[in-house]
Amino acid sequence: MDPMKIGVVGCGNISKQYFRQAARFDLLDITACADLNPDAAQAAADEFGVTAVMGVDDLLAGDEVEAVLNLTIPAAHVPVGLKAIAGGKHVYSEKPLGVDRDDAAQLLDAAKTAGLHVGNAPDTFLGTGQQTARRAIDEGLIGRPLSFTAFMMGSGHESWHPSPEFYYKPGGGPMFDMGPYYLTAIVNLFGPVAQVAGFADIKLPLRTITHGSAENPGPLYGQTIDVETPDHYAGTLITRSGVTGTVVMSFACHHAPYDHKHPITVYGSEGAMKVPDPNGFDAPVLVMRLGDDDWREVACAHPTGYGRAVGLADMAQAIRAGRESRCSGALAWHVLDVMQGFLDSGREHTFVEMSSTFDRPAPMPTDPPPGLLDD
Ligand SMILES: NC(=O)c1ccc[n+]([C@@H]2O[C@H](COP(=O)([O-])OP(=O)(O)OC[C@H]3O[C@@H](n4cnc5c(N)ncnc54)[C@H](O)[C@@H]3O)[C@@H](O)[C@H]2O)c1
Repeated sequence: MDPMKIGVVGCGNISKQYFRQAARFDLLDITACADLNPDAAQAAADEFGVTAVMGVDDLLAGDEVEAVLNLTIPAAHVPVGLKAIAGGKHVYSEKPLGVDRDDAAQLLDAAKTAGLHVGNAPDTFLGTGQQTARRAIDEGLIGRPLSFTAFMMGSGHESWHPSPEFYYKPGGGPMFDMGPYYLTAIVNLFGPVAQVAGFADIKLPLRTITHGSAENPGPLYGQTIDVETPDHYAGTLITRSGVTGTVVMSFACHHAPYDHKHPITVYGSEGAMKVPDPNGFDAPVLVMRLGDDDWREVACAHPTGYGRAVGLADMAQAIRAGRESRCSGALAWHVLDVMQGFLDSGREHTFVEMSSTFDRPAPMPTDPPPGLLDD
């Protein structure tokens, strides 16, 4: 297959992982990068050997690349994506797909009209943890799945991220930031969500950036952020397949004592399963069946070692092979619909029906040759 020339837009914190991981796939060739801050683009090019450092609009409109990897902040995902599509390029973006349904719908409509692909993070569900959990559930290891709990309870990102403001603006908060990992994992396991309900509010409205330390402060150390989107969600949902879930997503919990390694637990008619952190790729799945007296590890049938960029590689391969990509716009749209549903429910105190749906992506292959996803 011909490698796909990729241009990165947004060379901030997460871009390093993508530059490193993309180099592992023969199909991905990052030939250009750009950022609103030209120094960030230059630094990335120097560190990772990217040949062309370009202006953002030049990269999006020009002929240098076939696809754009959009690693900007959430509010820029759709504006940058729309320009990429207007420039005739496929686009794969970090999560969320957009800051709300209206925002994201523009991107999907434009891509459909132009006949271009939209892919979206997260791709962590392509790792061994989530793939092993899905396979075991599909094979009936815990019987019929009945319910689950999914907890992500932290105190926010202002202690470690150099510029954490976007986490507290629309398109951020724990639901739009971490929800994509959890909800993508959930719908990959059980299929589309039918209904959601919950409370969503702002618990800690003023945040102080403490990245760095008093002796060695980060660039924004000591500055404050006004929180403009809920920082705590307590919700419930039911999937079309009848699985009921309890979902807590919070940036307002100090020292939360839940199981960080296995934050999702699935309860089935014949046992229970501990599903590993959906913000990672490779970790063990644990199961306790009826009659067992302890948890045991489920044998992992998938290759380990994927990292961020595997979803982009999958999209490139899907485009070349004419198949569906796994981290598709349709999946990201459903996840956004669910996240927005929680927000709407919290504001209006109603149950919210999901109008979107999607087809569960194909499972990952179990024996791909090195550096590839499948034959
Ligand atoms: N930091 C993480 O650990 C992490 C992990 C997973 C996903 N993400 C996601 O990745 C995205 C980026 O996060 P980050 O932590 O790298 O943020 P960041 O602020 O460190 O980097 C974003 C970069 O995008 C640039 N940018 C912003 N708007 C732009 C525009 N319109 N055009 C061109 N460049 C623009 C900024 O100058 C900055 O260099 C977010 O959507 C975030 O949710 C971050």
